[in-house]
Amino acid sequence: MTAPPSHKLLDAPLDAGVPRYTSYPTAPHFHAGVTGETVSAWLDAVVPDEAISLYLHVPFCDRLCWFCACNTRQTLRYAPVAAYLETLRREIALVGARLAGRGRVAAIHFGGGSPTLLKPADLHALRRSLGEAFAIAPDVALSVEIDPNDMDEGRLDALAGIGLTRASLGIQDFDARVQRAINRPQSFEDTAAVVEGLRARGVGSVNLDLLYGLPFQTLETQAATIGLALSLRPDRMALFGYAHVPWFKKHQTMIDAAALPGPLARLEQASAAARFISSAGYEPVGIDHFALPGDAHAGAPPGRGGGRP
Ligand SMILES: C[S@@+](CC[C@H](N)C(=O)[O-])C[C@H]1O[C@@H](n2cnc3c(N)ncnc32)[C@H](O)[C@@H]1O
Ligand code: SF4
Repeated sequence: MTAPPSHKLLDAPLDAGVPRYTSYPTAPHFHAGVTGETVSAWLDAVVPDEAISLYLHVPFCDRLCWFCACNTRQTLRYAPVAAYLETLRREIALVGARLAGRGRVAAIHFGGGSPTLLKPADLHALRRSLGEAFAIAPDVALSVEIDPNDMDEGRLDALAGIGLTRASLGIQDFDARVQRAINRPQSFEDTAAVVEGLRARGVGSVNLDLLYGLPFQTLETQAATIGLALSLRPDRMALFGYAHVPWFKKHQTMIDAAALPGPLARLEQASAAARFISSAGYEPVGIDHFALPGDAHAGAPPGRGGGRP
């Protein structure tokens, strides 16, 4: 059977590769031409009251999801994490000394990997190091990427204790077959308990990450996952298209490429999901993101990126 002409027209562009846009600056901006002198010149250009954002990357996880394209590695031992934290603290001190009090930190983001594998005492120590090195605004927005499987009462308390204002939880998909195919077991109940634990501690904004284009996902399984996610009434939702790049991320070869939805099915999943999420009262923001009308990101134009971090 031949596809309708409109599908034929779409097939080529849908298959075309596009840059991964989920991090900024994007990966090609990190190259050998950016030297210590370049970075020092950038820091020297910061003026006293300029609002600045800090991003702290924790490139470790205690599990390895086969779909993952993030800059991380699995470790079941804490020693490499502790060694990395030591380097991070030195870097914080170095950058802070160069700024010498100039700049006012308005936003801090802990990303990964999974910053939530840090021990509570280390989360507190990191936050203290930042306070010693930088001038931090009293109303600083502090956000953390959370792997719900890491979470316990101690970590919830630590995140609240360091002033978490915004949490982003990875879900991806709740369907058991999809989860097996991507090596990402995670129950709805555990996820909901983390969301409740965060809200009980006064964390004002919760984002949930979902993926489309995963192996064995259908419009039906996807609708079931989105329905469950919406029942938690997140302030924001991200619905990323799964990037299958096994030549770059070896562990993605564990995913059966034959079970991946094709370009047209991906397009249908993205459109159906956007309709579903919008019908629940969310506004589309930037690419693949949605926010409740009261959220700081709501009102930003779709397709052009959001407002505040
Ligand atoms: C650092 S992880 C989130 C926090 C935590 N590590 C977790 O997995 O729950 C960032 C997000 O990137 C997205 N992501 C990871 N690999 C991806 C891929 N291959 N294609 C598209 N999005 C991906 C996932 O939605 C994931 O939740
Ligand atoms: S999706 Fe999250 S938990 Fe899984 S490997 Fe990637 S960064 Fe780690």
